[in-house]
Amino acid sequence: MKYIIDGRTMKAADAYTIGTIGIPSLVLMERAALKVVEAAERERLNLSKSLIVCGSGNNGGDGFAVGRLLLEKGYGVTAVLVGNPDHCTEETKTQIQIFEAVGGTVKREIPEGRYTAVFDAVFGIGLSRPVEGRYAGILEQMNRLDAAKIAVDIPSGIDAGNGEILGTAFRADLTVTFAYQKAGMVLYPGAFCAGKVCVEDIGIYLRGGVEGTRYLTYERKDVGRLCPQRKDDAHKGTYGKVLMITGSQGMAGAAILSAKAAYRMGSGLVRILTPESNREVLQATLPEAVITPYGEALENQLEELLNWADVICAGCGLGTDIQAGMIIEHLLVYLGTHRKYCVMDADGLNLISGMEEERRNTYLKAAGSSLIFTPHIREFARLLGKTTEETKKNRIGLAQEYAKTYNIILTAKDARTVVAGEGRIPYLNTSGNGAMAKAGSGDVLAGMITGCLALGMDRFDAAALGVFIHGLCGDEAREKLGAHSVLAGDLIEMASAVLQEI
Ligand code: ACO
Repeated sequence: MKYIIDGRTMKAADAYTIGTIGIPSLVLMERAALKVVEAAERERLNLSKSLIVCGSGNNGGDGFAVGRLLLEKGYGVTAVLVGNPDHCTEETKTQIQIFEAVGGTVKREIPEGRYTAVFDAVFGIGLSRPVEGRYAGILEQMNRLDAAKIAVDIPSGIDAGNGEILGTAFRADLTVTFAYQKAGMVLYPGAFCAGKVCVEDIGIYLRGGVEGTRYLTYERKDVGRLCPQRKDDAHKGTYGKVLMITGSQGMAGAAILSAKAAYRMGSGLVRILTPESNREVLQATLPEAVITPYGEALENQLEELLNWADVICAGCGLGTDIQAGMIIEHLLVYLGTHRKYCVMDADGLNLISGMEEERRNTYLKAAGSSLIFTPHIREFARLLGKTTEETKKNRIGLAQEYAKTYNIILTAKDARTVVAGEGRIPYLNTSGNGAMAKAGSGDVLAGMITGCLALGMDRFDAAALGVFIHGLCGDEAREKLGAHSVLAGDLIEMASAVLQEI
């Protein structure tokens, strides 16, 4: 488990470490530079003709310290100060003096020539406005070089808080960042510019009065810690009676994928409420599931099944017809008076979006503390009554706000899914890849989160761990099947390998 932070939080931690703890800024710079050189050598980059491009801020100071360490190791170094010399910080001025004292020369333009490596120390987390004019030209010139590209702390031009490219950005193969990963190099498009990210400890303190934005993220080793051990004397009811309200005519696949994913995550007993027309295919494909086809007395069936279930998953491939609408409404009313966790996905969310506002508010206020919503960006936009663009721009903030309004856990799906709610530090997921962008992938996620709930986890942890494991399954699947050929069903098959960690 680790934190991801934004630039403002890093600045505060930096200031706290220097000002309150008392570690001199030049010591931090020295450590930072040592780590950059160490990482570049560990990655076996050819540093024989290194170009270091520095701004006048402290990121530039880090850059000159890197240049000096490379000189000491016998590498060829060309260092360029592209910032205004009159605006250099005291630390950067000192680093330039030291660099010159060991025989380095500081140029003002990037000399024509061949370089094997280019280090970007133009802007760090201090970037405060779009990169334009001369600076944009310099970053583009650096991008055109046929050399290994290394960003010091963060690629110049990336907003450390949200991953937006502010004008023009350096495109790194390797980013050596300090203390914590910055959100801007995890979120897209910043993540494209960061390349491989190495997080290096340089002795920064993130405590005391350090305030700011932080996210939580899991690492592979956390899976074993977070998933409960399976008891040897367990029976099928020990790990939850799961009700899946999924699948409509022609959408049996959604029911199969979500139910199977819940089983693979460890659920003991899964029942599927679905139209009669899906019965045969479900029984043939997933004989482990108990199928309850809708009949004439749907309301009675629903009530009985809801009373039976410990955990519910609703909406995958459900459709949006009158019957589906009645089911979701009945479910919300039920959850308003019975506290049972329910994952609400896809058409369940669309039906809720389509409800008259006052009625929707009443239902969600009453049932919110039972619910986990799993919208992708368009579904989330519909829930909010905003455009997709507006939603995308402030996805994390909106997820936190929506979760707070209804006391819901909001899992905002995207290339970097976020889980918000219960006043917890939001979870920002870093597992998964583009191979998972296929129909049915969301059904599998809904099933996996439901499976985590059935294991007894609380809502936030179940959503975050479900998202993380789903992504790990995607990473395993891409490794085995290649980036184009992964199907949603393959993710489920990878779950056992991922869960071996327990
Ligand atoms: N166009 C032109 N100039 C710009 C632009 C732009 N788009 N955006 C920002 N700038 C300029 C500004 O003048 C800004 O300075 P200002 O905030 O005083 O106006 C400057 O670039 C910011 O430069 P950075 O090097 O990005 O920011 P900063 O000086 O805050 O350093 C830091 C970043 C702390 C080095 C960070 O990358 C880091 O944590 N590094 C590792 C740890 C480290 O070395 N710590 C010790 C540093 S010393 C200290 O913090 C006092």
